[in-house]
Amino acid sequence: MNAQTQIPNQPQARPAFGSVLASTMAMATYAGGRWSAHEFKPVGPIPLSPAAHVLHYASTLFEGFKAYRWDDGSVNVFRMDRHIQRMQQSARALALAEPETGQLAEMVLGVIDRVREEVPEAPGALYLRPLLFGTTPNIGAAATPPSELMLLVMASPVWDYFAGGMKPLKIHVETQATRCASHLGMVKTGGNYAAAMGPTLAAKREYGVDQVLFCPGGEVQETGAANFLLIRDGHILTRSLDATFLHGVTRDSLLKVAPELGYRVEERVFTVAEMLEWVRDGEAALSGTAAVLAGVGSLMVEGRPHPVGNGEVGPHTRRLREVLVSMQQGTRPAPEGWLKRV
Ligand code: PLP
Ligand code: COI
Repeated sequence: MNAQTQIPNQPQARPAFGSVLASTMAMATYAGGRWSAHEFKPVGPIPLSPAAHVLHYASTLFEGFKAYRWDDGSVNVFRMDRHIQRMQQSARALALAEPETGQLAEMVLGVIDRVREEVPEAPGALYLRPLLFGTTPNIGAAATPPSELMLLVMASPVWDYFAGGMKPLKIHVETQATRCASHLGMVKTGGNYAAAMGPTLAAKREYGVDQVLFCPGGEVQETGAANFLLIRDGHILTRSLDATFLHGVTRDSLLKVAPELGYRVEERVFTVAEMLEWVRDGEAALSGTAAVLAGVGSLMVEGRPHPVGNGEVGPHTRRLREVLVSMQQGTRPAPEGWLKRV
């Protein structure tokens, strides 16, 4: 379908994030130790054995990034190289054959080119979703990685991920449950989202929150679908990279431009107690491709609300979001190599 013609760019007419797919997808398969040539086809059902490895043993991983329609009509994809690298790293972690850099880039760029008319104008974007999974039909292969794989690239015209737009988020601070197995935190695999589902639904039900901030053992980590940043005058604090959480490209982008905007960047482990001290007069925000930079208004700890600053999205969060979005939309120069015109 042609989303550009059927979905008016007005908030009330926008579909929920990810609920509409663009008309073309790309597909390649892996068998006999090599990747097939890829093809572009109308988005639609795929052939899959009920014994496919992914359905039983969760041999699956994905990526998520965006292409933007600029004022001059061109379409530009943001930090594709980093997302391809992260997908290859996820594949290594799950013992799956890695997609080849050149082929995956061609698949992504080919999809964008074919659905160019479906890329929404700002504040919308085209969300790219490469997906890799095991198709080997063998229900006994619980401890053997699949030797046959499918690689797809889908796209979806998207707007806000959080339904409230720029409304400050209410976040439950979870110190018991973990988001996923600690060695897989930096891997973008479906099982991690399945593992986070129970604690997230429980917190939504009990405390009426939007999201959960996972802080196992009292150390602040990340939320179910975004990284976590503390921000104040001239200072950003976020957890240092380790295997326990996803190394966000949005996080990396913000930290790279922060010094020239006058922020000192501190990456280290910090505790829930330190975070609560910070938010008395500082800001907190979630960063991610889908979340962009979303301000936190309140942290719930054991059911008790702790307002973040005055409870509104703070000026530093707004400024950093504006800088990020301007680079993505081409109205502010971005570092060399971050954007590719399609
Ligand atoms: N953490 C998790 C668990 C995510 O799902 C995402 C979204 O991709 C992020 C962090 C942010 O990563 P990125 O900025 O690369 O989108
Ligand atoms: C992203 O920001 O790309 C994500 O992966 C969020 C997604 C789980 C909707």
